[in-house]
Amino acid sequence: MDEKWQVLIPESRLKERVKQLAEEISAEYKGKELTIVAILSGSLIFLGDLVKSLAVDVRTQVIKAASYGNGMRPQGEVTLETPANTGRPYGRGEIDVAGKEVLILDDIVDTGRTLEAVQKFLRNLGPKSLKTCALLSKPARRKVAVKIDFLGFEIEDKFVVGYGLDYAGKYRNLPFIAALEKESNVGRGESSVSSDGGPPEPARPSRGFTARGLYGQGRRPARAGALRPGTADGRRRTLLPLLIVLALLSFCGCAKDEERKLRLATTTSVENSGLLDAFLPEFERKFAVKVQVTAVGTGRALELARAGDSDVVIVHAPGAEQDFLKKGFGINRETICYNYFLILGPPSDPAGAEDAKTAQEAFLKIAESNALFISRGDNSGTHTREKKIWQTAGIKPEGHWYLETGQAMGPSLLIADEKRAYTLSDRATYLSYKNKLELVPHYSSPDEILYNPYSIIATNPAKHSGINYKDTLTLINWLTSEEGQRLITEYLLDKQVLFYPYEDS
Ligand code: IMP
Ligand code: MG
Repeated sequence: MDEKWQVLIPESRLKERVKQLAEEISAEYKGKELTIVAILSGSLIFLGDLVKSLAVDVRTQVIKAASYGNGMRPQGEVTLETPANTGRPYGRGEIDVAGKEVLILDDIVDTGRTLEAVQKFLRNLGPKSLKTCALLSKPARRKVAVKIDFLGFEIEDKFVVGYGLDYAGKYRNLPFIAALEKESNVGRGESSVSSDGGPPEPARPSRGFTARGLYGQGRRPARAGALRPGTADGRRRTLLPLLIVLALLSFCGCAKDEERKLRLATTTSVENSGLLDAFLPEFERKFAVKVQVTAVGTGRALELARAGDSDVVIVHAPGAEQDFLKKGFGINRETICYNYFLILGPPSDPAGAEDAKTAQEAFLKIAESNALFISRGDNSGTHTREKKIWQTAGIKPEGHWYLETGQAMGPSLLIADEKRAYTLSDRATYLSYKNKLELVPHYSSPDEILYNPYSIIATNPAKHSGINYKDTLTLINWLTSEEGQRLITEYLLDKQVLFYPYEDS
């Protein structure tokens, strides 16, 4: 097999940027002891160079992640090879992050799944803080939203090797980052998996390597200038467009302050839970903007934005969001908070869902019992997730035991309660309705499949005229700032946290 590579980031730029990153990290952890957990194997050279330049006390640990992009497992599933799941003994100090200031180090963030899986695994072990650092990021390939606190470079969608990154075990030793392309026209799924378990292959389906370069048909030259250095704080990346837009708006003298209105479409769980009241009044006061809220299901909220009838959305259906972004209707997506879906049922738990080890097993037990299951059946974020759980459990939910309400979460909860049925609910709506319900959570473990992130997305102002993009960016930046994140976490109902801040995750 023939592969060709072309330098994308020369050694000198790598060195310079890694040194800057070390300075940014040292400033962040000044006076503290830092624990770096490096994801094997691609990040090892990066780790070595980075720690040499750090000016804080640092300990290092490693974790191995494997993902199976094709073959026997579902696409994108990430397995972490830890002593806990391989049975091998713990090495000294390995995966010991409880109470520590932890920084996850990765070579490259592609779909984001590896980083997300490692984050979740470590978060459950109780670190004092948990941040992320990656040398490279390919935002165009992202499938899940992950925040990179310290980023070396953003690159285009190219398969890259060198400086620790491999293709089929090769090229780790190159002292620079190179874009790799095979000479043959092998399609995406056909070639081997990188030894890190990364994406299966480097080649584009139809673009062969040409003598003139690797970009498209060789028209654009490869140059390091095409790269954007990352910033210490992911937030600053959204600040830059904000500043540009602010400058432009003040230049053309539009949008008088006192008239500003921002149209927010959001999901009923966000509205019903009272979360909006926790931060919107403060936002409106601080930035002198009036926010008009429309609370609908995620699907409908995205439709409003797509039609230009909403400036910004806060929603919770990652699949639909990705599609929305891919089609260019939305930009600047940031996850602001998360919680986990709950499986609720009558207190007597006739299906024995309480004993299940996974969400799928709980669903299986419900399906096998005589108990009723209430589905929203409305293509909302919650309904989409419910269908995914049935599907991964290998069950086709139909029959006398399965009822669809076609209604929002609140009414569906009341119906389930009345019928003493099981149902899936987001945490926030359940806690808001708790006092009216006899239903109780029977399965509330933080399973991957129950993970429920809420994201804010700006309507693409290039698609419609009259979109208030300026205030949308202000809202995004503010909600992801320390103040916005604090208001979200501090919002309690019956002394319970409804939404966890994404900032810490
Ligand atoms: P994920 O898709 O973000 O989960 O990335 C999984 C892993 O695939 C990364 O940590 C890398 O080890 C590997 N990977 C992704 N893109 C590339 C690439 O362009 N070159 C080499 N390895 C890659
Ligand atoms: Mg990696």
